[in-house]
Amino acid sequence: MVARVLGFRRDAQGHACFGSARLSELVAAAQIETPAYLYDLDAIRAEAEHLSAGFGSARHVIAYAVKANSAGSIVRTLAEAGAGADVVSKAELQVALGAGVPAGKIVMSGVAKKDDEIEFAIAAEIHAIQAESVEELARIAARARSLGRRARIAFRLNPGVEIDSHAHVATGHDRAKFGIAKIDVPRALAAVDDAPNELSLVGLSAHIGSMLTALDPYRASALHVCELARARHAHKPLEYISFGGGFGIDYGNRPAPPPAEFAAHGVRLLAEQRLDALTLVVEPGRSLVGAHGVLVATVVQAKQSGAQRWVMIDAGMNDLLRPALYAAKHRIEPLERAPSGPEWRVVGPVCESSDDFGAHALGDAAPQGVVIRDAGAYGFTMASEYNGRALPSEVFVRDERVAAVSASPGSAAWVKRRLEA
Ligand code: LLP
Repeated sequence: MVARVLGFRRDAQGHACFGSARLSELVAAAQIETPAYLYDLDAIRAEAEHLSAGFGSARHVIAYAVKANSAGSIVRTLAEAGAGADVVSKAELQVALGAGVPAGKIVMSGVAKKDDEIEFAIAAEIHAIQAESVEELARIAARARSLGRRARIAFRLNPGVEIDSHAHVATGHDRAKFGIAKIDVPRALAAVDDAPNELSLVGLSAHIGSMLTALDPYRASALHVCELARARHAHKPLEYISFGGGFGIDYGNRPAPPPAEFAAHGVRLLAEQRLDALTLVVEPGRSLVGAHGVLVATVVQAKQSGAQRWVMIDAGMNDLLRPALYAAKHRIEPLERAPSGPEWRVVGPVCESSDDFGAHALGDAAPQGVVIRDAGAYGFTMASEYNGRALPSEVFVRDERVAAVSASPGSAAWVKRRLEA
């Protein structure tokens, strides 16, 4: 059997495709309107398998960060490929469990987990609740006591490491709200040891941010986690260590190391530190799904104003927030022909100047449809109904065919809810 070429590509006629299936035909087959997210489930599965291979024979869990894309079809695909999950709310935990992720492969992070979320996580017997403060440890202990259970917990450490990433997505430095700072670790350990019937410390973790394109800060953070792990593990055994997620992807302007390199690096580090009896957990979101989702939009209006060419599309910042929020640039290309020719400023319909996707080579004449690339992560999950715009549709593609569709709820539902408010 000839292995199929996975992911986004162009066919000989220049049409945007997943493998050899044209995106325009997939949208038509799904019987939905644009804007629509399309995802290549086979490419997502292959991405998880590549990452897993990076661990060699080391015991590991790929805890998929569900916040990147919480669609059932995607979480199920990753669960089938053997992944676990990193969740940050009760609702994400329910999605992970419902999609077939074993509770024993789920970790829960978050700086403000509510009591009912903590109780739900304890009752579900997840792998660990990753505590982000000494104060939170006291609350977890109280919830465990009231349930008559012992909570499996880990510390999410703040290693005090800076990264070269957008300020909004750097989480492991001294000014960040996340994690337990170095100076608070002795107090955190004392809190655990004072509550032996309520808390069981099974792991240590850190996550320094997103869009890492260099291994050095990851290594610095991992070393910090290892140092503490060695001290603890010597007298009270741990089960796992997590170096977090954050593996960057190439949005078309800056290459990133393959995620498997981060994995291999982590495995080597654990061996060097004589911690290889522990399970190595990573928490990738973007790198598993980002490149394998696109947002297809229709050109509503083209306009020429002096020398400026504008293209107004039916997808806006409410559908894909990343450009407005982080000044992120996603490649935008014509749907039915390869990018070429003059640049057009691509903007959405929302009444905000930040609803602007930047300049893109779309050809001499404006195309009818465009594809916004690398939109599989933090696209739909950050979408809103701002300006009375319905959430976009989603189409899940497997074997080059439409496997599932989540149709937009449409704006009528929004109108009804607003009138009822
Ligand atoms: N683990 C924890 C505790 C996290 O907070 C995050 C992401 C991840 C794992 C997954 O990181 P990833 O592998 O996806 O980089 N909305 C932003 C990204 C925010 C990331 C927040 N935390 C964006 O669109 O760039």
